[in-house]
Amino acid sequence: MQKIVIEGGCELSGVIKISGAKNAALPVMAAAILTDIPCHIDNIPELRDVDGFAELLSSLGAKVSLKEHSADIDCSSVKSVTAYYDLVKKMRASILVLGPLLARFGSAKVSLPGGCAIGVRPINFHIDALKKMGAVGALENGYINMLAPYGLHGANIFFPKVTVTGTENILMAASLAKGKTVIYNAAKEPEIINLANALKQMGTHITGIGSSEISVERESLSNGFNETIMPDRIETGTFISAVGASKGDVVLEGADINLLSYPVDLYRSIGINVKKCAGGISVSCSKKLKSVSILTAAYPGFPTDLQAQIMADLSLADGVSNIIENIFENRFMHAAELSRMGADIKIDGNQAIIRGVDYLYGTNVMATDLRASASLVIAGLAAVGVTKIDRAYHIDRGYEKIEKKLRAVGAKIWREN
Ligand code: EPU
Repeated sequence: MQKIVIEGGCELSGVIKISGAKNAALPVMAAAILTDIPCHIDNIPELRDVDGFAELLSSLGAKVSLKEHSADIDCSSVKSVTAYYDLVKKMRASILVLGPLLARFGSAKVSLPGGCAIGVRPINFHIDALKKMGAVGALENGYINMLAPYGLHGANIFFPKVTVTGTENILMAASLAKGKTVIYNAAKEPEIINLANALKQMGTHITGIGSSEISVERESLSNGFNETIMPDRIETGTFISAVGASKGDVVLEGADINLLSYPVDLYRSIGINVKKCAGGISVSCSKKLKSVSILTAAYPGFPTDLQAQIMADLSLADGVSNIIENIFENRFMHAAELSRMGADIKIDGNQAIIRGVDYLYGTNVMATDLRASASLVIAGLAAVGVTKIDRAYHIDRGYEKIEKKLRAVGAKIWREN
């Protein structure tokens, strides 16, 4: 198994190119299932999850070609409506095939993803919403088996809690349903705008995207789409945290500051200078960071996907910080690993209390999930000595060539078998 090895203590300086967003690329890939017309996607990131999703689409019978940050997907040859456990267990986002398969073929059988390191992550909201649209379903041998023999119809869907992939699944299903669907308490995440843009090109009429009430109505759905994936706001925030911890001066090329308004205010409040610049965002930091209180929340709040990374920063800040994790019940696995590097973190339910220390020390740590591994990389960059992060494969799910990008700005980071 590969390890990421980091010799800490180097300031970062130079340019990092931000890749396309994983969490936008996967739903846009899923949307191609809705049509038998070939679809094209640009600015696709090179990630394990994108490869995994391409494999899942291929297993259904689609022709998928990924090359040089673009994807061509032709779902005219889809024959199977079953997403098998072996593929789904590696990537929870596989649930995104449920809505489009059911809408186009009248049936879908998708393995339940099961829990994961960050929480239980049920899919009951997806299933309840599809049932309101006329589907029937049963759980059989670990698979959710849903049928809509007479097609789906529009419905008023109220999500009890904001759900990103739930909103995406229903947006896609509603694109082929008869009549109008209104989604209340919809997710406002920018990745949903990316998906909606692809669906609009296909001929779906959508209003209210970016608000909590979205209306969707099928119009023609006679086209494919040619969609470009937005810059990854989570990768952007991760590198901002890296500069905060390691100090230095870095330009994040292609990053969009408008996707991170609230997090940027928060980074500034702890002493990281973040500014819009020509072609991206410039980030610099030269002083010890300040403490802060953070609540994770759905967009536009502070993203749970950046919580682990900022915890690494706050481990080195002046004073006591608090983080309340409101989205996932078990997303503090990185805290114990950061503590092994000398951080002073107490966990009390969904709250982390972080007392800043002067130094973190390199040691052997283990990545437990994607964002936890990013947090350990940030801590390793700032630490005194050598950090070895086991289970490096987690990071490849969501960060394109992270060592190469960090080496280009002066970090000493490499892989070891
Ligand atoms: N929830 C339910 N029932 C459901 C669906 C969600 O109870 O049917 C709960 C979840 O347990 C959670 C909350 O609702 O407490 C929000 O979960 P959500 O459904 O929004 O999460 P998701 O759609 O599974 C996406 C991202 C995650 C990101 C979350 C929150 C993708 C592919 N994944 O997951 O990304 O953390 O939204 O923003 O878009 C990551 O990239 O590292 C990652 C985990």
